[in-house]
Amino acid sequence: MPRLLTTVTLSIVLPLLTLLGAQARPCIVTDAEWNLLAFGFDGKDYNAGSQDTWASDATPTEITADSRPPFNSPVTTCYLSEFANSIYVLNGDSSSPSTVHIYNVPSKAWTSHPVALGDYQASSPNTAVILDRDTDVFYSLSAGQMYAVNMTAVTEAPNGEPSPGEDKEWKLVGQSPFEGYDRPTMALAQNHIHFIGVPGLQDGDADVFVIHFSYFQPETQKYGDFPSTHGQTASMFLATGPVQEEFAFIPDDGSNTYIINVVSNTTQTIPGPSTKDANATYFGLPTALIQLASDGAVSFLAYNGEDASKNAAASWEGVKVLPAVEDVVNGGSSSGNGDGNGNPGNTGNGNGNGGGDSNAQGGGEEGSALSLSARVGMVVGVLGLVVGLVGV
Ligand SMILES: *[C@@H]1O[C@H](CO)[C@@H](O)[C@H](O)[C@H]1NC(C)=O
Ligand SMILES: *[C@@H]1O[C@H](CO)[C@@H](O)[C@H](O)[C@H]1NC(C)=O
Ligand SMILES: *[C@@H]1O[C@H](CO)[C@@H](O)[C@H](O)[C@H]1NC(C)=O
Repeated sequence: MPRLLTTVTLSIVLPLLTLLGAQARPCIVTDAEWNLLAFGFDGKDYNAGSQDTWASDATPTEITADSRPPFNSPVTTCYLSEFANSIYVLNGDSSSPSTVHIYNVPSKAWTSHPVALGDYQASSPNTAVILDRDTDVFYSLSAGQMYAVNMTAVTEAPNGEPSPGEDKEWKLVGQSPFEGYDRPTMALAQNHIHFIGVPGLQDGDADVFVIHFSYFQPETQKYGDFPSTHGQTASMFLATGPVQEEFAFIPDDGSNTYIINVVSNTTQTIPGPSTKDANATYFGLPTALIQLASDGAVSFLAYNGEDASKNAAASWEGVKVLPAVEDVVNGGSSSGNGDGNGNPGNTGNGNGNGGGDSNAQGGGEEGSALSLSARVGMVVGVLGLVVGLVGV
């Protein structure tokens, strides 16, 4: 009975929060030693430790610290600066899209850095960004233009305070040669930015921008077999030091995960995430790919970079060590876990962290199609059920 009540309570609270427009967008990343860091989980931040504990019910270490950003934008993103062992956060504060927030892992301290935007559309959902892991230069394709901002001086300065005069700005690097590529899908490997789903590309092809020469390579590159479509990506970090050679690509339908190796020019097809969510975000470390669904649920797929035969049969597991996050932007808009009995999930139960049922697939897509009035009806209906239960 308590379990039923918990489930029922969650199914009330989450749709209510969605209806009320709760505002937070967590992000997940690891530090340079591959400990999972989770920011913006109902106003708190956590270090969830190493991969061997993620599926356990260990207690994460809270790392919520002064001067953190509020993580209240629908487009918050986090990046690992590998050599600085720092986390760079873009759009951590919806009231200040021009601020880059940096969390230094060893000192557990935040600094914030104004970066002039010019005409760069920092908080457009169609702006794609990578952080070059060793130079700490951000590159971003936005509205058909490539922009960059060099954060080296900030990373290297004592206390993150560069000398006066080192003003930061998103500088125009060049116009993208792609026509009609309004929602870029961008991935980093081998100091090259790869563009998936550019109009006119065949399946398995990517276009390339060479970071160190600031140059759109005119030739298309063949990488094996994956659909040429929109999706999410994660650069697969290698053990600290060497440049990434692979990236993960998860198309919007979540049907498969593709691991693209830009040295061998081949693609592994491995299981798609249990939660199909076009708005999920991903982080890749040497031994896992992590998904943060838009309802705040976190799961991961163990990855073997040495032996591809292990990956095809790998399965996604819920990260149980983190608390469920309830207060999310777009919460439950598309994921929706079913109840395992063939009944569709309503609006996403948001408890992939703790419920142990994150593999159960429901008709989550129905959630996004529900009208507001249907949602209100549902909430009222569930409330009625609870009142009924409590009355028993
Ligand atoms: C970034 O700035 C640093 C100095 O702060 C400079 O040494 C480096 O060459 C710059 N990198 C790029 C790609 O502009
Ligand atoms: C991958 O493609 C590039 C560019 O076409 C080529 O230079 C490289 O030799 C290829 N790698 C392999 C392992 O064939
Ligand atoms: C994804 O996020 C965008 C921007 O916040 C939103 O407009 C869209 O409805 C979301 N889509 C889904 C499927 O949740």
